[in-house]
Amino acid sequence: MHEFLLQLPKVELHLHIEGSLEPELMFELAKRNGIELPYATVKEAKAAYEFSDLQGFLNLYYQGMNVLRTEQDFYDLAIDYFQRARGEGVVHIDMHFDPQAHLQRGIPLEVVMAGLLRAKEEAEASLDLSVGMIMAFLRDRPVEEALRVLENAAPYWKFIDAIGLDSAERDNPPAKFQALFKRAKEIGLVRVAHAGEEGPADYIAEALDILDVQRIDHGVRCLESDIVVERLRESQIVLTVCPLSNVSLKVVDDLRNHPLPQLLKKGLKVTISSDDPAYFGGGLLANHLACADALGWDADVFRLLNRNAIEEAFTSDQRRKELM
Ligand code: HPA
Ligand code: ZN
Repeated sequence: MHEFLLQLPKVELHLHIEGSLEPELMFELAKRNGIELPYATVKEAKAAYEFSDLQGFLNLYYQGMNVLRTEQDFYDLAIDYFQRARGEGVVHIDMHFDPQAHLQRGIPLEVVMAGLLRAKEEAEASLDLSVGMIMAFLRDRPVEEALRVLENAAPYWKFIDAIGLDSAERDNPPAKFQALFKRAKEIGLVRVAHAGEEGPADYIAEALDILDVQRIDHGVRCLESDIVVERLRESQIVLTVCPLSNVSLKVVDDLRNHPLPQLLKKGLKVTISSDDPAYFGGGLLANHLACADALGWDADVFRLLNRNAIEEAFTSDQRRKELM
């Protein structure tokens, strides 16, 4: 099974590129940029990655990305992950990135975009790895700020496949971002949102009704509402479920008790992704292997999940055909 999963061409729809920053690269970039880290060693950093909830993780996630300063840093971050993922048999990645988390630190959008887009181009030209771009907005910050960032990003609209909504979900309902998502729709941008990770099933319905999203990131808490499950089943809206992330952030207590089998049994369009691989114990292959071990899935389940992901990936029809 492990060899099959390594060989299987895998597609990842939910990956925060800043969450792919391995401690080794964090130390290298800190040195290059003359930044002092709160850890003495890589081992110490890794030992700190023990979380009791989403907020506990986000605190370290925002702290970690502080080493990213230059275009080269963003390029190195992304190409490092792309190379690793390709080595694990990943063939397509839809990548979230968080402009506000960098703008707040005085890093211009141009720096972020130039580095990430250069890495994407290189991956597509020489790694046989296609990459979709999701400009994500931080739901624990004001909608007015998000709207300004989206307008200022006008030169880059043509390079992004969708906007997303991430960061602290509790008490930051989708409805708060109605104006942002309305504007994105006017511009012609596809919309996705994290919902039903730590937040209630109602937030999934809100993201569908008010934000008009085409994809729900996580969505595991849909099982708390039969009505929401039925909507997701009927519309075949894709869920980007992140098994190791859910265990790390205590959304589920143990992978063996993960709701994934129930989601599949209900006929929902499920995919699996790594979310923040540097923080949650591994990339897309590690997530596949962990599910095989904990849930006892056979090859057909993994083929189905990856077929779902290929159908929903932000890529050209030609590339989609190649991946099928
Ligand atoms: N959830 C919400 N926001 C995030 C995450 C996540 O798992 N990772 C990075 N930003
Ligand atoms: Zn996420």
